[in-house]
Amino acid sequence: METSICICGAGTMGRGITLAVASHGIPVILYDLRPETVSQAAALIEKEMEQGVEKKRMSIEDKENIFRRISFSTSISDCRAPLIIEAILEKTEAKSALFLELAGINNQETIFATNTSSLSVTEIAQQTNFPGRVIGMHFFNPANRMKLVEIIRTKYNSDEIVLRLISFVKQIEKTPVVCQDKPGFIVNHVARPFYLEALRLAEDKIADISTIDKIMESAGFNMGPFHLMDLIGNDINYTVSCSLYDSLGRPPRLKPSAFQEMLVKQGKLGKKTGNGFFQYAKSKSE
Ligand SMILES: NC(=O)c1ccc[n+]([C@@H]2O[C@H](COP(=O)([O-])OP(=O)(O)OC[C@H]3O[C@@H](n4cnc5c(N)ncnc54)[C@H](O)[C@@H]3O)[C@@H](O)[C@H]2O)c1
Repeated sequence: METSICICGAGTMGRGITLAVASHGIPVILYDLRPETVSQAAALIEKEMEQGVEKKRMSIEDKENIFRRISFSTSISDCRAPLIIEAILEKTEAKSALFLELAGINNQETIFATNTSSLSVTEIAQQTNFPGRVIGMHFFNPANRMKLVEIIRTKYNSDEIVLRLISFVKQIEKTPVVCQDKPGFIVNHVARPFYLEALRLAEDKIADISTIDKIMESAGFNMGPFHLMDLIGNDINYTVSCSLYDSLGRPPRLKPSAFQEMLVKQGKLGKKTGNGFFQYAKSKSE
């Protein structure tokens, strides 16, 4: 049983994972480089729980207890825990540099889990001098609600570490699936054409984005591809497409979309910036 967790990166994923962990009685240290992101994360986590209270998913007392379990920090020296989960930017060097820095202030048993969507966990591990303690733990957005967690095992990981992560995922009432370290793991590999084909239909003016979303939703998907890309973040989704495209030898069917690249360049990242494919009302805390 895990007794405390440190989460690095207080963006979309870091916030959701924090809530998932703290809701299961485990103390969390949530760290980000940027002070404004940390205070925004505190406000958004509180707001999410207030909505939970309104919808009677939790009591006011639960909300207060969960919030009390979270320590917000901008100081890396606070990042000490037996299990550290990173949800920072999608760059191999940034992730391994963070793990190296964290290893200097943690003990020899600490496990470093990366929430990467598409990078090679093996490469992140190889850029540290403790590859056996680096493993993939891929949550889905919104992480406080989505049940699936892919555990990405590399050749360096022992059975003991994999089993420990499986029990942690079960401890927070989610469903672990162990995957090999292959591009896109399972879900992002299977789902890539869902986004890319929808983008191609829109680029070729075969249908507009709202129509495509409505059709896919009426066909049984919970969310159409354009609303989903806005929820994920166009920067993240586009980076994942580029990473898969490159690592699979640039097959034409997986060519990243120029339309999505343009939105990223314009800063239209989706829900988190208030506009993407669609417009979103920004809350006071955002
Ligand atoms: N958005 C999704 O749907 C999704 C789903 C699964 C996995 N992921 C992965 O999770 C990770 C984070 O994605 P996100 O959507 O939360 O991104 P985000 O842009 O919302 O948040 C990233 C945060 O990391 C912080 N950061 C950057 N470098 C840092 C460092 N060295 N130390 C501490 N904090 C740092 C930034 O200030 C930012 O707040 C990425 O690797 C992404 O591929 C994203």
